[in-house]
Parts: sequence; C-alpha cells; structure tokens
Amino acid sequence: MSVDVLLVGSGNMGRGYLEAARRLGLRVAVVETPARLDVIRAEFGDVLAGQESVDPAAADHDEAWVGPAAELARCTAPRGVLGFSEPHVLAAALVAEAHGLPGPGLYATQVSRNKALQRVLYGAVGIPQPASRLVPDLSEVTPRFPLVVKPLSGSGSSGVEQVPHKAAWADVAARRAGDGPLLVEEYAAGDEFSWEALVRRGCPLFTNLTAKTTTGPPAFVELLHRPSGSAAEREIRDRGDRLGAEVVSALRMRDGMVHLEFRLAPDGRAAVLEAAVRTPGDFLMDVVSQAHGVDLYAACLLLALGREPEIPDGERGFRHTAALFLAADRPGTVVPDDTAALDAVPGVFRSGLRQDPGRVVGPPESSADRMAFALLDLPTEAALREAVWETRRAFGTAG
Ligand SMILES: Nc1ncnc2c1ncn2[C@@H]1O[C@H](COP(=O)(O)OP(=O)(O)O)[C@@H](O)[C@H]1O
Ligand SMILES: [Mg+2]
Repeated sequence: MSVDVLLVGSGNMGRGYLEAARRLGLRVAVVETPARLDVIRAEFGDVLAGQESVDPAAADHDEAWVGPAAELARCTAPRGVLGFSEPHVLAAALVAEAHGLPGPGLYATQVSRNKALQRVLYGAVGIPQPASRLVPDLSEVTPRFPLVVKPLSGSGSSGVEQVPHKAAWADVAARRAGDGPLLVEEYAAGDEFSWEALVRRGCPLFTNLTAKTTTGPPAFVELLHRPSGSAAEREIRDRGDRLGAEVVSALRMRDGMVHLEFRLAPDGRAAVLEAAVRTPGDFLMDVVSQAHGVDLYAACLLLALGREPEIPDGERGFRHTAALFLAADRPGTVVPDDTAALDAVPGVFRSGLRQDPGRVVGPPESSADRMAFALLDLPTEAALREAVWETRRAFGTAG
C-alpha cells in the first residue's frame, strides 16, 4: 500500500494532520505509542496506511522515535515525512535526510532542539537575544539579577524559572544542583509574542504574529495566545517578520513550519527567546488557521511533500481568535466537572478540561498544570477581549 506522508508522532493536536490528510486524499503512516495508535486506527482507519509503535516509557526522548521512524520509512517508502512535536523532529529529519525528502533540514532541526546552540548561532549573526551563559553547575556562576534559568531542551516552560534577586539564588542553585547543564540568561523584560511561518525553500510564504500572555515570573506559564490582526499592531507584525526571516536564515531552514518566540521591551529592543521547526502547541494551528482562513495542517502536509500550499490573499478578512487557558490562581482550586460554562460564552467554539474533574490544583508551574482551555472566534478585537474576560469569569478564575 503506498504511503504519502510518514507522521512521526501525532499526539492530541496531531488529529489536525490526520483530518487534513483525509481532506487531501493522502495516505499516512504513523509512529506513535501503542495506546495512541489504537485511537488513530479506530478514528482514521481510512487514512492510516502503516504504523510502528514507540515505547511509551521512553517517548519523551528524541532517541526513542528514531528507530521506529527509520523502520517504518524503510517499509513504506513515503514521499514525505513530518515530525509532530519536540521529541519527534529529529527522527523526522533523519528520515528526510536518509530518503532525500523535503523538510526543515537536519541543521535547523538539531539547532532548534538546543537552546544553547541557538544562542551561539543567533549571536554569530547579530540576532538580538538575552545575554546568556551555559553552565555545568549553578554554583559556578557569578549571577547578575534578575535572571532566568532553563534547561537546554525543555518545552512548556518546564524547568524555566526567573530568579529575581540574590537572596533567592542560593536556594535555586542548591535545588537544581543535579539538573545537568543549564542556561543562565539575562531577564528580557517586555511584551511577549510568537511568530509562526510556513517556509518553502528557505523563504517564508505565510506569516502570523501572536500576542501572548503568561503567568509572568517566576514560571511564565502560557495563558493566552491571540493572533494579531489589528492596525495598531502592524509595526510589531513587521518587526516579527524581520526577526523571523533572520532566524529562518540563521537556522538554514528549508521547508516546513517554524515557530519563534520573542519579547519586545518598551524601548523597542527585541530579544529572541527560542525557535522551533515544528507544529506549535496550545491550539495555535487551529486559531491561526481560523484567524487568516488558511489550513495550516494541510499546508504542512503539502510542504512535506515538496508542494506549494495555497495561501489566502487576505480578502476573506481577519477573524479575531484566541486560545485561552484557564489556570488556578490560588492553592486548593478544584477542577470542575466539565467546561459547559465555557461553551455558553458567545464566541467560544471549542473547550475542554486538561485535568481530571475534582482534582485539587494550585497555580501552575508548567503548561501541564493548566485546568482547561477555550478557543474563541469573534469579529472584532474589542469583542474578543470582552469574550476572554467573560470566559475567565465563567470559569471562576482570574488566570
Ligand atoms: N531570558 C528570558 N527573559 C525573559 N523571559 C524569559 C526568558 N527566557 C524565558 N522566558 C519566559 O519563559 C517562557 C518559557 O521559556 P522558553 O525559553 O520559551 O522555554 P520553553 O521551551 O519551555 O517554552 C518564555 O515564554 C518567557 O515567558
Ligand atoms: Mg517557549
């Protein structure tokens, strides 16, 4: 049976790729854990043309995906390959390299998986970023505050923490003594944005700027992603496009989707935080697609096949969308039974719990601690802001 695209990893948000493959009439082979493959077989049996399983106990590690992806590629000879999230992109890039398939490229992929490598290569070409130092052990640092400590290859803000002043330092250094090499960065103040782009042969074809709200220091858990479309943010979008083009070039990225995070200080100074050559998480694919009237999932499949996706000309008009995450703002918060209260808010088109109902949670330390999400779509920015406020109120949380 012929296979069009080998999907390395699929996850919950990978459903979008399987749905898009169905719309495009593509046959897909999937590398996933046995439990996830069961779900995919049941729901997407018509699309699934090959499968290989990954050991769930090792699935957080890039290395676990490499062997199964190589084996499935050998058996199915796909015409394209796509890595889903962080642990999947290296295996996908190795398959692409070995079989001569399109993709971001091994250089971009390897660099994107390591924040310290990004600092070196962005620094070499003058891309603005926080001053940083790679340290084997925090006790060896002479710190300047405020600073941020982070692992080299994390995601979802896990292990990222701000240290505001000297008094807090000894505790952090002791607590993280066994963490291995860490990156210690200057704290970049300012508003936070992400930039998403479809890249073909090294050139951005479609770009989007997303304004982001996080819980702020110390843990910076992401609470709101709002694709930007207002005239007032035009300059920031242009700024994102310029920074993004520089990063794509520094990464020598070829084909696929890139997701960049940066901060913009009140004095206009930008600081690139990180870039990833993969599907952005947190429903960004869904809200960005809906905002611009573009099918990002289908576009990524086509890019993986070396084809040029159709990009909307903007005539349809921008929709003001957002992915909102609801998190506890105090300890002892009980996760509700469902998200019916969110669905009742006008503009909410999808919602769901991210924790078991009845569980008692506190303020989040990483993305995995958030309680629920709601995706919104409104005709104006003012209506969106109102709906975000209303959704938070309906859930009984400020966060
Ligand atoms: N140097 C920094 N200055 C200011 N904020 C930072 C810095 N580094 C990280 N952050 C904050 O922490 C969040 C998570 O850090 P990031 O490097 O993006 O790690 P992850 O891969 O876990 O998303 C960022 O979105 C940002 O809010
Ligand atoms: Mg990040």
